[in-house]
Amino acid sequence: MASRFVIFRLLFLLLCLSDSIVQIHSDGFGINYGQIANNLPSPSRVALLLQSLNITRVKLYDADPNVLLAFSNSNVDFIIGLGNEYLQNMTDPIKARNWIQQHLQPHLPQTKITCITIGNEVFNNNDTQLMSYLLPAMQTVYHALVNLGVDKQVTVTSAHSFNILANSYPPSSGTFRHDLAEYIQPLLDFHSQINSPFLINAYPYFAYKNNPSQVSVDYVLFQPNQGMTDPNTNLNYDNMLYAQIDAVYSAIKAMGHTDIEVRISETGWPSKGDADEAGATSENAGLYNGNLLQRIQEKQGTPAKPSVPIDVYVFALFNEDLKPGPTSERNYGLFYPDATPVYNIGLQSYLPELTYSTASKINVLSVFSLVIYVMAHLMCG
Ligand SMILES: *[C@@H]1O[C@H](CO)[C@@H](O)[C@H](O)[C@H]1NC(C)=O
Ligand SMILES: *[C@@H]1O[C@H](CO)[C@@H](O)[C@H](O)[C@H]1NC(C)=O
Ligand SMILES: *[C@@H]1O[C@H](CO)[C@@H](O)[C@H](O)[C@H]1NC(C)=O
Repeated sequence: MASRFVIFRLLFLLLCLSDSIVQIHSDGFGINYGQIANNLPSPSRVALLLQSLNITRVKLYDADPNVLLAFSNSNVDFIIGLGNEYLQNMTDPIKARNWIQQHLQPHLPQTKITCITIGNEVFNNNDTQLMSYLLPAMQTVYHALVNLGVDKQVTVTSAHSFNILANSYPPSSGTFRHDLAEYIQPLLDFHSQINSPFLINAYPYFAYKNNPSQVSVDYVLFQPNQGMTDPNTNLNYDNMLYAQIDAVYSAIKAMGHTDIEVRISETGWPSKGDADEAGATSENAGLYNGNLLQRIQEKQGTPAKPSVPIDVYVFALFNEDLKPGPTSERNYGLFYPDATPVYNIGLQSYLPELTYSTASKINVLSVFSLVIYVMAHLMCG
């Protein structure tokens, strides 16, 4: 009797899940699924977690077949990655084609892979050899996609550090570093030619951490504040992320392009840091990511591009215990490895073993559970 009841209750919870009757809108909200850790849940459990949260956009740093397999026949849309170590090989058409055939094509179409990032923050070190491989690698991978007939479903781009800007203030004066112009100009021409977005990893957290007495914490956390007015455009900015996005648009425009969309491939806030990492608290991280999620759900654009909803991948899904560097590096996750939330940002989960976050939703669940309890008694008792 008792065990039958448990089975009924579980079946019903599964029903709730597949019906998605109590989930949130998360259009535009993407998440980076980093795996530099030794304690993460299996990809199939992660698939359940993301399904329960109605998160349908995921960015990987590689093309982990276990992840791509676990998400087959799901509605999750993937960006996969080719790390910097592949750039040189990807300039070879044969190797690029082989890579696509071995790592991408076996997953299509049952796993929705829509984008490949070639290299991550290639301009953020002084490796000019690596920089010179970037565009040829992107072009070669793109041509391989064309030749294999999948260029309409999978696009090619790269993710850059915000540090490639020499100037970002005010946003209308954004410019790229002068020494990178020889690489970035043809790169932008290529983006324009294949109609692919320009991706930026942007962390207002770093601006705050480096200068906590000068940078307003409300401005970086999307909290109410007076904001900043760009003297050239008279546009008012109430948060730093939007100012950073528009600075990138300005830098692209200064190189002659108004036809390339800027998207945020990473942003986030650490919930923990070392003594010298100002602002790294779970309260601030919850505000940053929660306020950002709300703006994404409202489909806000930036002041310079009000009709283009911001497109963001938050960093990151999990805390990653094997990441080197200061404490903050291992504490960007929205979730602990056991899938419990580090803080509440208004994403709700309806898997029985995961945490609920609002009383009203729990009530919905409790009422359904009660109905099932009664039904189970009637049918089995
Ligand atoms: C889940 O998110 C999608 C967009 O990603 C949205 O269209 C859909 O309505 C959401 N489902 C629920 C039940 O909120
Ligand atoms: C690049 O290609 C060489 C030669 O085929 C191979 O030995 C090497 O492992 C490749 N590098 C990567 C990162 O795949
Ligand atoms: C790159 O080189 C410059 C000077 O040439 C130096 O200031 C900077 O720290 C270097 N950056 C990295 C990431 O090595």
